[in-house]
Amino acid sequence: MSAPSDTQRMEKIVSLCKRRGFIFQSSEIYGGLNGAWDYGPLGVELKRNLKNHWWHVTVHERDDVVGMDGSILTHPSVLRASGHVEGFSDPMIDCRTCKAHLRADQLVEKKGVKQCPNCGGKDLTAPRQFNLMFETHVGAATDESSIAYLRPETAQSIFVQFKNILEVSRKKLPFGIAQIGKAFRNEINPRNFTFRSREFEQMELEYFCRPEQGMELLEYWKEERLKFYENIGIPRSKLHVLTVPDEERAFYSKGTYDIDYDFPFGRQELEGVAYRTDYDLSQHQKASGKSLEYFDEEAKQRFVPHVVEPSAGVDRTVLALICEAYSEDQAPDEKGKMEMRVVLRFHPRMAPVKCGVFPLLKNNPQLVAKAKEIVGLLRPYMTVFYDESGAIGRRYRRQDEIGTPFGITVDFETLGEKDPALRDTVTLRDRDSMKQERVAIKDLPEIFRERLA
Ligand code: GAP
Repeated sequence: MSAPSDTQRMEKIVSLCKRRGFIFQSSEIYGGLNGAWDYGPLGVELKRNLKNHWWHVTVHERDDVVGMDGSILTHPSVLRASGHVEGFSDPMIDCRTCKAHLRADQLVEKKGVKQCPNCGGKDLTAPRQFNLMFETHVGAATDESSIAYLRPETAQSIFVQFKNILEVSRKKLPFGIAQIGKAFRNEINPRNFTFRSREFEQMELEYFCRPEQGMELLEYWKEERLKFYENIGIPRSKLHVLTVPDEERAFYSKGTYDIDYDFPFGRQELEGVAYRTDYDLSQHQKASGKSLEYFDEEAKQRFVPHVVEPSAGVDRTVLALICEAYSEDQAPDEKGKMEMRVVLRFHPRMAPVKCGVFPLLKNNPQLVAKAKEIVGLLRPYMTVFYDESGAIGRRYRRQDEIGTPFGITVDFETLGEKDPALRDTVTLRDRDSMKQERVAIKDLPEIFRERLA
């Protein structure tokens, strides 16, 4: 069988996401809301595992980073000072033939003539700037004075709370403020499943430093972020670091890297790591009239700190995790005949369900009682799924398809019926190798503690 094309692979992934409850189209029963997605029971677990791991390694494991959770509704002055009101826009072009609204960079060029990628039409409007921010009104009035914005990035609330957090945390430079939360952009053309959405989540760290530390810390955070992706199961070989050229970089940035991943629809950005100099804090200091300076007691110096920002997308990373995990192989069915198996090879740390527990037969009260006892034993430490319906091979397949790394089967040996020495042991099956080992029930928590670490 030839390898499926990347388009086919993506279609299979999107279909699996819906079939098994990872990701649904938002407002689907009303025809869907373009650019918005709902995460189902498994998707929400995967997303939480990712966010928890990011928070753990970025905040909990470090002395030099604290967290915050800012509001989504944002004062217009914040976004005027940051430059978003004036400049956060994409050039938009309309196709007069099929009425599509297109980002200028989405046009296709044939024989030197720009065309609409949907209908091939050449009757296109001139580009005009389209601001990507969602505007809303706060309070009863809906006039100029009540305008607020849904934040287009989490970063700005970190900058405007810099002084408060510095005071309460009593950190010394270099130190960071981390945040995970929703951001909103009215993308002209949401596409590639969740990749470009209008509502999405970011995991952002603003790491403040002295000016002379900026370039070195840019390198440091690029490497840290690459390690992060490897530690959640995205191999280094599929990650690509792009040095953003001078002419494409924000004017205030002294260096920016994009970390790209090989998605089935092409190599695309997962995260940006940027040295933003003192631009943001200086802008807010100027606009608010409040000092955002740092006082270095040893050097007796007062200055506006510089910042290095690793900014990752939660939804894009979830999509990368699913794309990376998706695989098809061959496995024997109940009669030993080989059949195609769909398996999500998630890193155990990311897997939404860590362990399936199966009594061999559902109509044997002793097997069922033992299996439920194991569920009770493991549930305080991990997500466990109990399944008693269907042939055992089918139950394994169902868990393989959602990426459950371990399966425990309670059989007659567990009850000590064949060999008393095997009483209170179970088979522990590995999703990837499909190998089974016999282990004592009492050892399970320790085995999982090691394998899920
Ligand atoms: N504070 C810097 C900042 O927001 P960005 O490159 O515009 O930089 C950072 O966004 C990350 O947020 C991106 O690398 C991507 O992972 C995610 N992101 C941005 N726009 C997105 C969208 N429309 N849909 C999903 N994720 C998005």
